Amino acid sequence: MPAPNFDVIASLAKRRGFVFPSSEIYGGMAGFWDYGPLGVELKNNIKAAWWRHVVQLRDDVVGIDAAIIMNPRVWEASGHVAGFSDPMVDCRNCKLRFREDDLKGAPAGIACPNCGSKGTLTEPRQFNLMFATHVGPVEESASVAYLRPETAQAMFAQFENVATSMRRKLPFGIAQIGRSFRNEITPGNFIFRLREFDQMEMEFFVHPRDEDEWFAHWVDARHRWWTDVLGISADRLHLRPHEADELSHYSKQTTDIEYDFPGLGWAELEGIADRTDFDLRAHATASGRKLEVFDEAAGEHVVPYVIEPAMGVDRAVLTVLVDGYTEEQLAKEKRVVLRIRPELAPVKAAVLPLLRNRPELVERARALTAHLKPHVSAMYDDTASIGKLYRRQDEIGTPYCVTVDPESLDDGAATIRDRDTMTQERVSFQLIPGRIADLVAGRVAWEGVPRGA
Ligand code: GAP
Repeated sequence: MPAPNFDVIASLAKRRGFVFPSSEIYGGMAGFWDYGPLGVELKNNIKAAWWRHVVQLRDDVVGIDAAIIMNPRVWEASGHVAGFSDPMVDCRNCKLRFREDDLKGAPAGIACPNCGSKGTLTEPRQFNLMFATHVGPVEESASVAYLRPETAQAMFAQFENVATSMRRKLPFGIAQIGRSFRNEITPGNFIFRLREFDQMEMEFFVHPRDEDEWFAHWVDARHRWWTDVLGISADRLHLRPHEADELSHYSKQTTDIEYDFPGLGWAELEGIADRTDFDLRAHATASGRKLEVFDEAAGEHVVPYVIEPAMGVDRAVLTVLVDGYTEEQLAKEKRVVLRIRPELAPVKAAVLPLLRNRPELVERARALTAHLKPHVSAMYDDTASIGKLYRRQDEIGTPYCVTVDPESLDDGAATIRDRDTMTQERVSFQLIPGRIADLVAGRVAWEGVPRGA
């Protein structure tokens, strides 16, 4: 089945409580979206999977959680005040603004793509993508501060504190998950290009002689995370090294991990950049601090090079939804299934009474839900017929549904149904929480049989 387009995903996301347009009752706001009850679970599960693999399972990476607003000198030193901009063209007639690279020709020679008037487009001007604000009670130029456009700079600004407090030697990394803000001119494609988004970035500090080896390591490790941990189809992912003329001002080499989105084509999910010593040297010069480490083998101080894997959480959420979405034709109806990895699913187990007008079944099912909750995220639902309840859970990617039926009152067991195969296991109440926790963690194999077998 071809991957679904963004409209299909946005509709499912809204209908089922994953993602809503921000401040929708006032007409929304371009580039801003809110995560609903299921979306926040999915997003948190993706963040946890990244933190576990990039920080907790390694002994050479530590984490921080820095303030969003930093001293504005950080952004002067990093080059963002002068260089984090896109060339923009304005129409003097309709007042709309366009990215120069979206125009089909030189501004002087073409009509405005919006209002069609000729000779009204300005020459390109640099438009800085950072959101500015004021800190303190007085709005004057001295109080200007910026909402960070990337989380990375805090890792450079805190390099000395982290290295000293954690007694780090090269190579080591500092990781962070947090909000970033960019005044994108053309936000869109649902949650692909946002003005407020979450990033997961890690700055890995290495001896300059080891840069190529570590660059290759991180390109490979990050690609494997997308396929093996997030479960994204390998044939819809590829690695794309940057051409020399598209490298960021700080980068010597960059490889993007891209996904083949329907209607959009290959688009960036993550970039692995070799930032060299650009940032540490820039901050050392601007702050007057020595941002270097002592290399005992060589008996000298070195300014480390930095290999940076940087990704957007919202793009990962979008990719998981697009890649997991499937439609199946059953005998009597169409089934929409979100085939996402059980670890990522917002709900791991849904407990459903077969008959909602039987109080003993409802009571049993509610008690089972309470027993499940300490082990896995579980929910109880009796707001529709059993067929509808199954479809609803399939659509939100719940890997296991547990049905409590009249027989349960006699045999003390319930039926677990597997989302992907729709096969079933009959398991006693006491063993259900452990069984589902083991299945979700991949510690045991599913042994279901077809319904009625
Ligand atoms: N520190 C390096 C850096 O920020 P970037 O390529 O500009 O590099 C890293 O951003 C990742 O952040 C991208 O690969 C993308 O996943 C995500 N990202 C960047 N801009 C975004 C936006 N406007 N909306 C959503 N995600 C974005």
